[in-house]
Amino acid sequence: MLNNLFPKVRPRRLRKNKTIRNLVSETKLHKSKLIQPLFVSDSNSQKQEIETMPGQFIHSNETLFNEVDELLKLNINTIALFPNISDKSKDANGTEALNPENFMCNLVAQLKSKFPELVLITDVALDPYTLSGHDGIIVEGDVDNDETLKSLEKMSLNLAHAGSDIIAPSDMMDGRVGVIRKSLETENLKDTIILSYSAKYASNFYGPFRDAIGSKQVQGISKDSYQMDKRNLAEALKEARLDLNEGADILMVKPGMPYLDVIREISSNTDAPVFAYQVSGEYSMLQLGIDKKIFKHNVIPETLISLFRAGSSSVITYYAKWVAENYDDIS
Ligand code: PBG
Repeated sequence: MLNNLFPKVRPRRLRKNKTIRNLVSETKLHKSKLIQPLFVSDSNSQKQEIETMPGQFIHSNETLFNEVDELLKLNINTIALFPNISDKSKDANGTEALNPENFMCNLVAQLKSKFPELVLITDVALDPYTLSGHDGIIVEGDVDNDETLKSLEKMSLNLAHAGSDIIAPSDMMDGRVGVIRKSLETENLKDTIILSYSAKYASNFYGPFRDAIGSKQVQGISKDSYQMDKRNLAEALKEARLDLNEGADILMVKPGMPYLDVIREISSNTDAPVFAYQVSGEYSMLQLGIDKKIFKHNVIPETLISLFRAGSSSVITYYAKWVAENYDDIS
């Protein structure tokens, strides 16, 4: 049918040169829409490259501050911060997460006082603090939802009081957004943003992240009883709606590229901003391919654009700094 329109319609007219292509482009990749995840150790005195994520580091306190300074100069103003906690501060229930004076709370306060313009996202889940590497408290062989909620509530309050702009529950317990929102209100933390990992799949792409935060032991165990089943799409919309009803401000889909349909589904069917997380395994695949010269760096913007085209409002990506350094304004 469309054939009949030729030559009246010639889509190539709008691809003639870069200026025209830019005028009609539907999606734009811009560094103001990128968030850099960073890892920081509670004990290392030097930064250390993550073997399975070439080019990414576990920072020391000092190198973290330098890195944040560089990011702000590049106009990457938002970071998602993940701690690597030493074994001596871990236990079965992740008790250290509940300590308002713990490493992360102190660090958040220091970062915010040194860099007031920084927008800081902190994760809410127990995995950096549990010996099992699970995101919650294990009772009779499984992560117990309601027991874990009590810890997440306290952890959220600590991180919000310390100065996190955005707290990001990534644990996938039922009802956690509601519990967290309610106690934030009670403690007059009404402006703390909740970025809910609504559709967080039980993915095999998180492996390098687990190396980075030192929860390697979970490699052998599964998070299938709380993270989402990879086969489901309708369920993602259900999770998103529940989180919005409970008081989430922003929704997240994770991983990114293997779940473009989920980003589209949620962004088309809710009125909240949807963020995507291009996770560690996606980074490692790309970076190892680039390092081996299988493809060039231009695959990076292509993957990011796909996430925006699918409906993401912003993207958490280990390539945020790289984009800011290598592109002024990517069209
Ligand atoms: C922990 C958490 C994970 C990621 C973000 N927060 C890992 C997991 O659920 O085991 C993964 C991020 C990445 O792979 O880059 N709750």
